[in-house]
Amino acid sequence: MNLFLTPRAFLRRQVLGRVRDLPSPLVGRTVLVTGASSGIGEATARAVAARGGVVLLVARRAGELERVRSGIEADGGTAYSYVCDLTDSAATDELVAAVLVEHGAVDMLVNNAGRSIRRSLEYSYDRMHDFERTMAINYFGPVRLILGLLPAMRAQRFGHVVNIVTWGVQIKAPRFSAYIASKTALDTFSRIAGREAYADNVTFTNLRLSLVRTDMITATDAYAQAPAKSPEQAAMLVVRALEDRPLTISTTIGTVSEVLNLLAPRLMDAVASAGARRFPDSPAARGESAD
Ligand SMILES: NC(=O)c1ccc[n+]([C@@H]2O[C@H](COP(=O)([O-])OP(=O)(O)OC[C@H]3O[C@@H](n4cnc5c(N)ncnc54)[C@H](OP(=O)(O)O)[C@@H]3O)[C@@H](O)[C@H]2O)c1
Repeated sequence: MNLFLTPRAFLRRQVLGRVRDLPSPLVGRTVLVTGASSGIGEATARAVAARGGVVLLVARRAGELERVRSGIEADGGTAYSYVCDLTDSAATDELVAAVLVEHGAVDMLVNNAGRSIRRSLEYSYDRMHDFERTMAINYFGPVRLILGLLPAMRAQRFGHVVNIVTWGVQIKAPRFSAYIASKTALDTFSRIAGREAYADNVTFTNLRLSLVRTDMITATDAYAQAPAKSPEQAAMLVVRALEDRPLTISTTIGTVSEVLNLLAPRLMDAVASAGARRFPDSPAARGESAD
């Protein structure tokens, strides 16, 4: 038995999953997707709506949200958009209040909105704001949403939260201290929250994604030729996380790195250090162009 799945997901996957044309467990579920105006969030919103979920789209760019919402409706799905800067605490509290009034309990939350920063510490000595702004959107925003939506999930004795984190939480790649630390905070928060909410049938998945070809990585030259998933491929992993509710979804490279980081940490330091020297900071990260 796969111990990472809930018993119900295991049954569905191993037994019922063999029966064709079963309806998705997302049918009729209210699913709030943050960062739904582009990239992985947009692809996830479309995929969830295609499976019968009612999607609540959240991001800052009203025009892009409307483009996604009208596209979903044109394809026969149901979506509502909410413009919100998730680093603004008051605005996020207002979002939670509005959603609960207009839709009742959110059944599933996808914490996808985020930002990445790739910059060595040697270029970060006077950039405390890098660490604050990654925590603001990658950690405090999702935590505020979870705190706001969890009571109704627990009251209805059903809920699931998917956090889009990164394989970096296992690899611990140099130059990503601000980004990976903020994602690791959310990863750890959710493992503990999942234990507390377990008895109320509210579960959490940390999806530790590898590279995905979105706007987020276009600024990094080192990634131009690197293998990367499409947003649609990443969205299929999010759908799997929503339908099966596993604890984590990880890559093989991430899992092997995690084990090696435990078994041979100094060796891994040497390997990571050598690897990082091959891919220097970008001109923007070095402060040689606008950021
Ligand atoms: N691309 C990768 O290789 C990769 C790998 C692992 C994990 N991830 C994670 O995947 C998630 C999605 O990233 P992506 O690759 O799809 O990049 P993306 O296309 O740049 O999407 C980022 C999304 O976050 C939203 N967002 C950013 N700041 C926000 C704020 N303050 N309030 C509300 N929404 C905000 C953006 O919308 P607005 O600008 O409209 O607000 C946008 O929809 C991120 O959490 C990222 O860390 C990405």
